[in-house]
Amino acid sequence: MLEYKVSVVTGEMTWGGTMDNVFITLIGSEGESERTLLNKQGRDFASNQPDKEFTVQTDTSLGKIDLIGLEKEQYLFLFDDDWFCCKVVVKTPDQKELHFPCYRWINERQLVYLREGTAVTLLKETSPLLRMYRELELREHRKTCQWSQLAEGLPHTLNVDNVKDLPADFQFTFNRTLHFFITSNLSQAELKIKFLANQKKAWENVEAIGKAFFFNKTDIYTYVQEHWKEDEFFGYQFLNGANPTVVRQCRRLPDNFPVTDSMVQASMEDSSLTTEIMKGKIFLCDYALLDGVQANTVNLRRQYVGAPLCLLYQNKNDKLIPIAIQCNQPAGEENPIFVPGDSKEDWLLAKLYVRAADFLIHQLDAHLLRTHLLVEVYTLCTLHNLPAVHPVYKLLIPHTQYTLHINTLARERLLAKDGLIIKYSAVSKEGLNTVLRKALDSLQYSALCLPEDIEARGLKDIPNFFYRDDGQEVWDIITKYVGGVLQFYYPSDIEVAADVELQKWIGDIFLHGFLGNEKSNIPKAFRSKDELIKFVTMVIFTMTAQHSALNSGQFDFGGWIPNSPPSLQSPPRKVKGRATEGTLLHTLPDVNVSVQSMAAVWGLTRKPEEFVSLGNHTEQYFTEPDVVAVINVMKDELKQLSEKIKKRNEGKDLPYCYLDPAEIENSIAI
Ligand code: FE2
Repeated sequence: MLEYKVSVVTGEMTWGGTMDNVFITLIGSEGESERTLLNKQGRDFASNQPDKEFTVQTDTSLGKIDLIGLEKEQYLFLFDDDWFCCKVVVKTPDQKELHFPCYRWINERQLVYLREGTAVTLLKETSPLLRMYRELELREHRKTCQWSQLAEGLPHTLNVDNVKDLPADFQFTFNRTLHFFITSNLSQAELKIKFLANQKKAWENVEAIGKAFFFNKTDIYTYVQEHWKEDEFFGYQFLNGANPTVVRQCRRLPDNFPVTDSMVQASMEDSSLTTEIMKGKIFLCDYALLDGVQANTVNLRRQYVGAPLCLLYQNKNDKLIPIAIQCNQPAGEENPIFVPGDSKEDWLLAKLYVRAADFLIHQLDAHLLRTHLLVEVYTLCTLHNLPAVHPVYKLLIPHTQYTLHINTLARERLLAKDGLIIKYSAVSKEGLNTVLRKALDSLQYSALCLPEDIEARGLKDIPNFFYRDDGQEVWDIITKYVGGVLQFYYPSDIEVAADVELQKWIGDIFLHGFLGNEKSNIPKAFRSKDELIKFVTMVIFTMTAQHSALNSGQFDFGGWIPNSPPSLQSPPRKVKGRATEGTLLHTLPDVNVSVQSMAAVWGLTRKPEEFVSLGNHTEQYFTEPDVVAVINVMKDELKQLSEKIKKRNEGKDLPYCYLDPAEIENSIAI
């Protein structure tokens, strides 16, 4: 008689354990064990308890064990309770320790097959039985996670309308749900107590806005409140604010933005616009995507969306300052170019239109489309095409945790008919879809890869650009990590090209995410290792760092509504010199719209319960020592970078923390 020792690790989350019976079957190259009940004295599968060792007996050796079957059955008359199994460890009679990662919920009478932890591509899968299990697993995921589409021309999404209908593996844990619920309800409660949530009228003065959210503040929010009118701070935000994705170097003025030397001479110190353009010191923010977009009606009032162009100058003190703003795209007499020398009300209003446009582009294009929606596509394509034993699955899956949940929640609460965005945004639902459609249609692969994006926008040399500096370091660490892991499975380009599962994965991403748009330059197949490493790096960077850069500053920079209005209620000025302070108050969103926006960005930027920082997930999907060593190097490098960034930020009024690895969440979960 031979004895195989089995230990099982249960998840530590609330209600991760089970009272039910668990059975195991060991499946080897030379035979299978009996279906064996794992049973000891006391509760065998509770959270936070020392591993118990069970025994599975066989008459003969099972050979190489690549697979186990795990099954749960109701115990006596107790209620069925789901069980979160982290992993199973099997010690063979010759003392070999085999790890079977699971990290999923197991339901009543569900038979789950787990592969031994060594990652294997299809090319190396010689056993017909194991090839069949790969296919079965993918078939199951394709069945439970089907495609849907929000609207024509947008990336495809999961066909689930309510988080309750999501498979348990993709749902928030109990603690996370509770924390999310409490955070959003506390903000709402404060607003309700103050009777602000239903006030459909303009603010009486700007100071009143500061009193709306008395308990909820951050240091940066307070800084913004004090400095939002300043040109230097206005310019700073394009580099290190909540949305660093728009500004680019201006080598030639657009034809529809006829700024002349004389118009901006007062801002140019002892130089001129023409000279500074040639020196590469002039920058542009162009919100052309918003041109002609259908506006919303809020509180029975039509809202207004500009499509501004804003010119900025990197002055002798290396500060980026705005020097000219045109609030709409077509040049003309009724669309004047505002400059800092205009009346302070005119200039402030012009900047307000830029900030409102930036809010929309930030939320719709940079945040929603390029991170949340595309990451949903990367996640679903991974589940549909890569089995759990595939190395790329193992690389990506920790960075997909809760993304399907938060995106489903966003569709329920923000993007549904009565959702916050649809009700209170400056653009109508059709307008929102138009912006997303135009943004996807013009999206380039290079814009998703930070180093290429920075190069294409001509921002390699601009000083004090912390998003670029920190982002580049995180990008490099991820590239090294991805390359370090994948070298073990893809010794040459040949293995990449021959991996059918991998080729289907990227083909699906090209179709479901980018709708087969060749102009996007997204690969539809991989021909080399380098192409694969770059793409997987981009995916992990987007799932973690890029989302953090776009999500974490939402309250800091957007909580103070005059700095980041979600909507505006009067059209841009057609004539200079007539705006008053009252114009500003009547242009800002009404009280109810403002406070709902403040509450939303507050809730979306609270550090969630069970926060896991980049690379620090405890799940051990990879078990090979060489790969684990690569992972440990990555963790170490991220830790060092975190210390470096913290040191750089010391003493700064405006520290840039969004790309500090310790602050980057390991997946898009908010
Ligand atoms: Fe987000």
